[in-house]
Amino acid sequence: MPGLTAPSNYAEEPPRHPALKINSKEPFNAEPHRSALVASYITPVDFFYKRNHGPIPKVDNLSRYSVSITGLIHKPIQISMADIWALPKHNVTATLQCAGNRRTAMSKVRKVRGVGWDISALGNATWGGAKLCDILELVGIPKLGSVTSLGGKHVEFVSVDKCKEEKGGPYRASIPLKQAADPDADVLLAYEMNGEILNRDHGYPLRVVVPGVIGARSVKWLDSINIIEDECQGFFMQKDYKMFPPSVDWDNINWSTRRPQMDFPVQSAICTLEDVDVIKEGKARIAGYALSGGGRGIERVDISVDGGKTWVEARRYQKDSIPYVSDGPQSDKWAWVLFEATLDIPANAEIVAKAVSEIHHRHCFSQTFAALHKTVCENASCGLQVDSAANVQPENVEDIWNLRGVLNTSWHRIKILNSSCVGRSKM
Ligand code: MTE
Repeated sequence: MPGLTAPSNYAEEPPRHPALKINSKEPFNAEPHRSALVASYITPVDFFYKRNHGPIPKVDNLSRYSVSITGLIHKPIQISMADIWALPKHNVTATLQCAGNRRTAMSKVRKVRGVGWDISALGNATWGGAKLCDILELVGIPKLGSVTSLGGKHVEFVSVDKCKEEKGGPYRASIPLKQAADPDADVLLAYEMNGEILNRDHGYPLRVVVPGVIGARSVKWLDSINIIEDECQGFFMQKDYKMFPPSVDWDNINWSTRRPQMDFPVQSAICTLEDVDVIKEGKARIAGYALSGGGRGIERVDISVDGGKTWVEARRYQKDSIPYVSDGPQSDKWAWVLFEATLDIPANAEIVAKAVSEIHHRHCFSQTFAALHKTVCENASCGLQVDSAANVQPENVEDIWNLRGVLNTSWHRIKILNSSCVGRSKM
């Protein structure tokens, strides 16, 4: 790729904030302390988790950088940064979450393979860039198109980084064309993060952001976009980021039996306490994050201080002074919500959080489809309220254990050791 090069070693990595917890140095994988996540609705770039599979690419000449768009289309093109800047700019606030978030807790049940993430392999940012659907129009793919005349049904994003898993080849992934060409799916080619130029760790000069979908599909350091018939055959689509049942292990795995994971399931975690913590009996503020994939909102977050016997509902909020209403015009449908509750913590409490999502199909919110949807729903005598059957987090991590340790969305449990007991045992 002219203008963008991929080093084959780690000699030229960018500077990073020293407070990040490093889970692997080469490739660089790091997350902030959990308390940083609830300090602000928008995660500062420095504290946003960094998930890489190879050395970080470098731009040597931005004016020579371009993205090629090829494949099952009639007029392949190359677009420069100037072409992308010239398109309407959209700001989308979306939470990016790695499918391996909370893997460490899963590995305590049984060994899993993968980077050991605690609960902070996610962050919420405002991404600025061009909508992918506007770029696809440049090659003759109309808005809401789902198949090209040459049979293209998927959009593959290819990077330049050298990944061991791809035998030194670049990272790649795909999403369905239907999603890519839908203006309301908000898929971006982003050049800004939180109002600043994207930094190298997060994909400078250009990355894909696929809201509501596991982070693995948001390809960084974009080199080309290919319109293809079947989903991308790359390692990270076919041999990774798939969810298997607990009975499947490395000696009996058949990767082709599962589809690549796309939307992430409902998730929540407590960020104001460690998994095993010591606090005094009495009142304590419990706060954390909750989110659900596919543009579904969070209906409720429940907290228990007795291991799940009784529950109270936490207050949810997004931006200051905006109480969270998932489909309200001011709410960010792709973003997390933060929650908090101040509760009496008994001695030796087990504090648990679980979130309940709304189940709406993304297109329920599509302005383009709104009228059609309303008619369909009315005819079926339903409506959005009927759609809000609740999707919940699994109670036990054992039930969702899988060999790659992905999608640990089990109830987050915190064990409180009574401070006086800890004091005594230390004597
Ligand atoms: N894109 C490229 N080119 N290389 C990568 O290693 N990692 C993916 C995705 N895009 C990756 C990539 C994964 S698994 C995740 S979770 C997100 O980027 C992480 O994005 P972040 O580092 O900006 O948080």
